Amino acid sequence: MSGIYIHIPFCKKKCHYCDFYITLNKNNVGKLIEAIKFELILRKNFLNKNSIETIYFGGGTPSMISPNYIGNIIKEIKNNFSVNSNIEITIEANPDDISLDNLLKWKKYGINRISLGVQTLNDNLLNFINRSHDKKTAIASIKKISEHYDNFSIDLIYGIPGNRYDKLKNDIKEIIKFNPPHISAYNLTIEKKTVFYNWLKNNIIKKENEREIIKQFNLLKNILEKEEYIQYETSSFCKKGYESKHNSGYWKRKKYLGIGPSAHSFDGKYRSWNISDNNRYISALNKRIIPNTEEKLSKKMKINEIIMIGIRTKWGIDNKQLITQLKYDILKNQKNTIDKLINDKLIYINRTKIKATKKGSILLDYIAEKLLV
Ligand SMILES: C[S@@+](CC[C@H](N)C(=O)[O-])C[C@H]1O[C@@H](n2cnc3c(N)ncnc32)[C@H](O)[C@@H]1O
Ligand code: SF4
Repeated sequence: MSGIYIHIPFCKKKCHYCDFYITLNKNNVGKLIEAIKFELILRKNFLNKNSIETIYFGGGTPSMISPNYIGNIIKEIKNNFSVNSNIEITIEANPDDISLDNLLKWKKYGINRISLGVQTLNDNLLNFINRSHDKKTAIASIKKISEHYDNFSIDLIYGIPGNRYDKLKNDIKEIIKFNPPHISAYNLTIEKKTVFYNWLKNNIIKKENEREIIKQFNLLKNILEKEEYIQYETSSFCKKGYESKHNSGYWKRKKYLGIGPSAHSFDGKYRSWNISDNNRYISALNKRIIPNTEEKLSKKMKINEIIMIGIRTKWGIDNKQLITQLKYDILKNQKNTIDKLINDKLIYINRTKIKATKKGSILLDYIAEKLLV
């Protein structure tokens, strides 16, 4: 079982925190979609004829291009790959693109899950982070989606400078009234080459302090747990049976094919990434060349990936997987470190798995750093 990720690199505005590859120039959307279709055909054997369990349209803002383009890409995938009958097909959407027409067209083409980028319901903050929508549009779009889709997710960001515990509490309470089956809550990261990074360097903004961030994270966790959401990964909460199959595939290290500028792929041995430049991507594909760079994973890299990803999930770091796939027994090789982390009440062992405790769940980077080889 495998997944396909399609990167649609267009947005209306660039959010001040965002470092994904996107452009505001929509002139070559048609040419880019053609190039994406060429790439799908050229790489149809990448997943070794495994059946496709998930398709994920991410970005960028895939909701802002015509739904017909999305339909064409799904058709091309079905023509070239073997597709599972209960496939999950997700589209990332921005609130200002949620019209009834779009919702119905996406559904007609096979989309059965929507991931909506709300981030916050505070109009001042939405403005501050340079979002293209306001609170009213966000609420109206959540309502509309909930009337037409059973499976959808809301993205939130906590730790935004200027946001406060009480405001975040109101946001989350307002959102859960619509009973979203999935919520992703991300801690704001300030990456190089973003407006926020520049503002931070020039003292225009200050990073939120660690204690406030932990308070906000615990608040989200507590409210969502009371509402019967399961935290299956650090940032991901869902009602029973509504895990994102696509993202779970990444965390379980299943193979996936990433199509489009800047998209990443993984075939079990190699990780590769496409060029982050629309024009160069299109001209390479017009010559039937795949413009990517690849890196073979060493045994050490694979062990470290399993540790870093595993500790973030409810499934934990699986020693059985490490032993069978990589002949590495973490429980034996790192006995002293593990005993110390258990003593500090940061991790516990459940059969063959190492999992973070509640206390450890806010110190995941620290735990991973101790366990890396
Ligand atoms: C790939 S983005 C694109 C989704 C869509 N274009 C949008 O912005 O609504 C997916 C999600 O990642 C999160 N995200 C992106 N950059 C982030 C950052 N620097 N810190 C925390 N979360 C971030 C946001 O919640 C966003 O909705
Ligand atoms: S809309 Fe999404 S992808 Fe586009 S700039 Fe904002 S966060 Fe990034």
